[in-house]
Amino acid sequence: MSNTFKALVAKVESEEFQISLQDRVLEDLPEGNTIIETKYSSLNYKDGMAIDGNKGKILRSLPMSPGIDAAGIIKSSTDKSYSLGDEVIITGWGFGETHSGGYSQVIRVNSDWLVKKPKNLSLKHSMTIGTAGLTAMLCIMELENAGISPEKGEVLVTGASGGVGNISVMLLNKLGYSITAVTGRTELESYLKDIGATNIISRNEILEMTRPLNSIKWAGAIDSTGGEILSNLISAIDFEGPVACCGNAAGIKLSTTVIPLIIRGIKLLGVNSVQCPIEKRVIAWQRLSDLIGSDEFEKITQEITLNDIYAAANDILGGQIRGRTIINISASENDSYEEIFKG
Ligand SMILES: NC(=O)c1ccc[n+]([C@@H]2O[C@H](COP(=O)([O-])OP(=O)(O)OC[C@H]3O[C@@H](n4cnc5c(N)ncnc54)[C@H](OP(=O)(O)O)[C@@H]3O)[C@@H](O)[C@H]2O)c1
Repeated sequence: MSNTFKALVAKVESEEFQISLQDRVLEDLPEGNTIIETKYSSLNYKDGMAIDGNKGKILRSLPMSPGIDAAGIIKSSTDKSYSLGDEVIITGWGFGETHSGGYSQVIRVNSDWLVKKPKNLSLKHSMTIGTAGLTAMLCIMELENAGISPEKGEVLVTGASGGVGNISVMLLNKLGYSITAVTGRTELESYLKDIGATNIISRNEILEMTRPLNSIKWAGAIDSTGGEILSNLISAIDFEGPVACCGNAAGIKLSTTVIPLIIRGIKLLGVNSVQCPIEKRVIAWQRLSDLIGSDEFEKITQEITLNDIYAAANDILGGQIRGRTIINISASENDSYEEIFKG
């Protein structure tokens, strides 16, 4: 038994960014009313940037642990709505950015950031979903609020081989939509069709659509890439069609004309999962767990430990990750650290 636990810790020493697996004690963690034993976390684009030299200054208060997602078991809480042993999920609210994150066998957070894990979802698959899957569901909820339905036509999903893209394809398929998946990796066609895509097109097809207005191809879109891809795709969306914009894998610029908005009434809808209100999150998590089963989650899940995290971070930044990478935190150089939960 030990009173230390393992965590990936980023710090600055002699003006140099360093990151390594370290022994930590509870006192190293930030304030919070709830202590959780982390079972799984996940790898998101932001986590890749944090690990790779803290690009984009994702980590704001060093030293701290990266990891914007975590799923685990309540070990203590002053919040009476939680009991010892409750299984919970945390994403967003600055977790893994301003507040020490999920790449740690123990975390301390505020209970009002938590969502209770839906019963028919495992902790493991809750991290297959993670921030990426929650964002995909929030995008679909935005499209639904804007009046989309399967009868209106095909929905376009960009960055289709990535986390948000994969889960968007799976969810839309379950909801009865036909889906055109946009990818830079057309060699993944059979994989994308297996998870629910109807048609696959290459990124270049969208990059070539540079006219302000193109013939109508899609009823709506979920875009996790931004840049030229988003700028161009809105020119081929049907009248009154909604486009959910949630990411910038291709760039932060949006250089377009007002023509699709004023001639076709296209609705460009921003989606932010980080500050999403808790009531909306609870609905989104329940829908995610109702729509996708564990066999389907397995198809898009790659499991690693914290020892493999550096290579995985490189892969996600290089656009080489397919689907979702989850981190089995309790299997990472595991020590017995039960002692710290006593007393
Ligand atoms: N707004 C929010 O709350 C929120 C939440 C989660 C994520 N995000 C953002 O959404 C984006 C995607 O996140 P993710 O977790 O899905 O990341 P991911 O797993 O890395 O997937 C991104 C996908 O985008 C495509 N891509 C990569 N580089 C590209 C480029 N230069 N041009 C065009 N497409 C490119 C690739 O798909 P193909 O190989 O199939 O083309 C890649 O798999 C990120 O920018 C992330 O920060 C935002």
